[in-house]
Amino acid sequence: MLVAPSILSADFGKLNDEITAICDAGCDLVHVDVMDGHFVPNLTIGPVVVSSVAKVATKPLDVHLMVQNNTFFVELFAPLKPEYITFHIEEEKHPHRLIQKIKSYGIKAGIVLNPHTPPESIEFLLGDLDMVLLMSVNPGFGGQSFIPTVIEKARRLKAMIAEKGAATLIEVDGGVTDQNINLLKEAGVDIVVAGSYVFKQDYKTAIDSLR
Ligand code: DX5
Ligand code: ZN
Repeated sequence: MLVAPSILSADFGKLNDEITAICDAGCDLVHVDVMDGHFVPNLTIGPVVVSSVAKVATKPLDVHLMVQNNTFFVELFAPLKPEYITFHIEEEKHPHRLIQKIKSYGIKAGIVLNPHTPPESIEFLLGDLDMVLLMSVNPGFGGQSFIPTVIEKARRLKAMIAEKGAATLIEVDGGVTDQNINLLKEAGVDIVVAGSYVFKQDYKTAIDSLR
């Protein structure tokens, strides 16, 4: 299991130290939550802060856009060369076009599904996607409770990916702890995002427990 700590739960007063600490603790990706106050009722960070994160991170960035006007935000973040940019299908009329745009920068592309969105909605995009991110909370805030229906969704998505012969990874985001990690692994999840679970304890202990 790959582990991507969400820096939403970090102490932003010492963000550089926090990024160094999670990278030293052995995380696989640094998950960056970008919220615009429109798609979700919260506002986080833009390219100025994320460029500072990118400078100190020794692990690749995983940028999760929770925004309206995805194309505008992809253009803002592409110069920072994250490993992944993921965007919400619920907010995109032309997902196929946007996937190609993300890939044109040499960045891996992923789509995010809110808790209500069925995996069948992206069936014909799977061959183009490097990752599908399944939300196991409503996007907008850290520290919420895990919504267990994501387990069945991950299983169905895993079967769809196998049927298409695609190499798409499955990531799950929200409420991930040592209490649900085994169910996620059994369902075929490849990467977990964890915010409050990692930042509320010793980072290495937390990351090792999920892995
Ligand atoms: C929620 C974010 C998550 C969040 C996860 O909108 O996408 O990445 O930070 O935090 P926890 O692990 O505390 O649920
Ligand atoms: Zn996220």
